[in-house]
Amino acid sequence: MTTRLTLTHRPRRMRRTAALRAMAAETHLTPGDLVQPVFVIEGKGQKEPIASMPGQARLSVDLLVEQARHLHRLGVPGMALFPKVDDSLKDHTGTESQNDDGLVSRAVKSLKAAVPEMMVICDVALDPYTSTGQDGIVEDGEILNDETVAALIEQALCEARAGADMVAPSDMMDGRIGAIREALDDNGFEKCAIMSYAAKYASSFYGPFRDALDSAPRGGADKKTYQMDPRNRTEAIREVELDLDQGADMVMVKPALPYLDVVRLVRDISTVPVSAYHVSGEYAMLKAAGANGWLDEDKCMMEALISIKRAGADVIFTYATQEIAEKLG
Ligand code: PBG
Repeated sequence: MTTRLTLTHRPRRMRRTAALRAMAAETHLTPGDLVQPVFVIEGKGQKEPIASMPGQARLSVDLLVEQARHLHRLGVPGMALFPKVDDSLKDHTGTESQNDDGLVSRAVKSLKAAVPEMMVICDVALDPYTSTGQDGIVEDGEILNDETVAALIEQALCEARAGADMVAPSDMMDGRIGAIREALDDNGFEKCAIMSYAAKYASSFYGPFRDALDSAPRGGADKKTYQMDPRNRTEAIREVELDLDQGADMVMVKPALPYLDVVRLVRDISTVPVSAYHVSGEYAMLKAAGANGWLDEDKCMMEALISIKRAGADVIFTYATQEIAEKLG
């Protein structure tokens, strides 16, 4: 009995050596695909590690500028800014989000002055600034849509005035992309791009992020009346189409790994670049398993990001940006 099969097709031929595998590789991850989300705080020389996000810290603006220089040298094109503001600045309507002298405005100005090539992306949503921890204005337990959009317009204008290259509404109010686009254009900011968090789910994977900003909805409330239901997929098409109609320059799916089917779906229908947000909880899970010796953290992180790219993401927002870019470098 011969043990040799007569096979025309032997897929293993293309896996035999590293060189062959490199030729056959369909997906390539580069630092240019990645955006680093960062947390900014007041002060100088301040670095506060975030317990639930090992390797990440809240940084004062001067340290953020140093990080921007480093990321730029590594070939990372963008940073997404999230401010942690003092409780004393929070109110019902998130007034501080419109302060031209506020933390975000100062951070954007310093970053653009030091590293003009680095794309600075500012979040548009009220949650770091509201006493309720909600992304919008609350009245009798309801998140008001149109009143919130009016506030988001002012926040986006404030970010554009500071010099943001891109504003990224992550609030999930209806109609905010068109309203923000019109306001930006009316005020001479037609070059400021909009990345819409178009298919953003009401996810429990945002936990560590909310720790980082102390922005969890108060009193155990959730965000289910505006963020998408994790059970839905077709609805993501509707959200993306609406935002494209309203002028979004880029759309996002968030979170990433538990929603790879949605990433692929959105990539197939979108006429603009698609980003996916590998969120705080996804990052924390790998870090925790790595710290316990249960997983090879570096390899699993790389595999996770490759999977997000393979699913169709053109750009990945991930806390692992710097460490991965250092490795790829
Ligand atoms: C808030 C916002 C959230 C994230 C980005 N912008 C949290 C939320 O919607 O509650 C989550 C990011 C992460 O978990 O890494 N507008």
